[in-house]
Amino acid sequence: IKNLFLVRHAESEYNLENRVGGDSSLTEKGRRMAWALSRHFIGTPLPYVFTSTLTRTREMAEPLLETRKGTTIHHAFKEFDEIDVGECDGLSYAEMERARPELFAARARNKYNFVYPGGEGYATMAGRVYRGIKKAIYLSGNSEYIMIIGHQAVNRMILSDFLFRRAEDVPYIFIPQDKYFHIVSTQSKKLFELRKF
Ligand code: G3H
Repeated sequence: IKNLFLVRHAESEYNLENRVGGDSSLTEKGRRMAWALSRHFIGTPLPYVFTSTLTRTREMAEPLLETRKGTTIHHAFKEFDEIDVGECDGLSYAEMERARPELFAARARNKYNFVYPGGEGYATMAGRVYRGIKKAIYLSGNSEYIMIIGHQAVNRMILSDFLFRRAEDVPYIFIPQDKYFHIVSTQSKKLFELRKF
């Protein structure tokens, strides 16, 4: 790939309540943002768009696919699903802190290596996310343009594959919902741009 457009799904119902896990839909505002994304990319070749299997990323891709019938292939990748929070699925951060104070403190102490009971952590999800990137590149026939529509933790991991960050800083990379990263990656240069859509 030469151009990777890395997008996070826009506002979901769970985002509104600060909840983790689940499989909620985009809010009305989130759906408007999905249309804004599609409008923003008019005129940009986008033969391959990869999403996770979760509703919010698929909904984010819908306007893109509707306006580009025949040109965009849409693959739902399990490798790009959001971090599995196991027993904490559906909780808000406030509820998590109240119900599982030791867990919450352990996570704050070492967020990169922390693993949710019955689920994943940043360190343990890294392998499948990196496999997903390789699979996407392969399936696109090494296309010059790829878009991935992912999630907060997933996009942090993807970014960390392209730019060096200390592992302990990765879980704190800012991943906005109204901007995307345009990563230009060639042998001689790597360029990152955070752009609004
Ligand atoms: O649902 C999980 C979140 O998107 C991951 O963010 O690791 O900062 O809690 P966090």
